Amino acid sequence: MKGSLHADGVSLPIGEGQTILAVLRAAGASLPTLCYDPRLPPQGSCRLCLVQVQGRPQPVAACTTAAEPGMVIATEPPALREYRRVILEMLLSETPPSQGCPRCSLLGLCQLHAAAARYGAQGNLLPRLPTRTPSPDPNPFILRDYRWCIACYWCTRICQEWEMAGAITAVGRGQDTRIASLPTDRLLESPCTFCGQCINTCPTGALMDRKLLGQLSTARASP
Ligand code: SF4
Ligand code: SF4
Ligand code: FES
Repeated sequence: MKGSLHADGVSLPIGEGQTILAVLRAAGASLPTLCYDPRLPPQGSCRLCLVQVQGRPQPVAACTTAAEPGMVIATEPPALREYRRVILEMLLSETPPSQGCPRCSLLGLCQLHAAAARYGAQGNLLPRLPTRTPSPDPNPFILRDYRWCIACYWCTRICQEWEMAGAITAVGRGQDTRIASLPTDRLLESPCTFCGQCINTCPTGALMDRKLLGQLSTARASP
């Protein structure tokens, strides 16, 4: 124990080496995150976990900021709620309308659409961009429909840094960035172990277990 901080008026103990996010999560608080994974070094890229710390001019990312005794934190001030809504609108503008998300329709809300619902992002604030292209990869295990990809690189990080397979990587730039397995974009011809970590990690419907999809679709079609 290293003292405590105050978050939204509640005193929370700080554990050794904890970030603000770790303290909040240990207390059961739910802060939206689209790039944080406890198995990986924090990357601080999605900006959804920003919190306001009293005395600091700018909000800070809870996932990369060390918790300090005496900090006074607001996690949901109106300005940050609006900031999150706009970020989510930007992400929604890169993907098809949420009603078609395969993960949401078969497994319950994906992380992207759960966060969008929480902050009232409806995908109608910005013009929709052309979506990324589904991979024609015929492997029998993983459906790679990158129309739903938000280029968060969670899958490539988990594959490279946790699974140590290095089967997928980001290629291209800007809106043309896409996830590929090199050299042929066929997972069966890559170092992929088909561990499924990327599917479990993806916060959208871009990666799905083909077998599970088939089973769930069949179960749904049955009377
Ligand atoms: S299934 Fe495992 S090894 Fe294959 S791409 Fe996904 S994380 Fe990498
Ligand atoms: S496939 Fe999923 S995990 Fe990978 S970059 Fe796209 S949205 Fe993120
Ligand atoms: S979880 Fe993405 S910036 Fe903190």
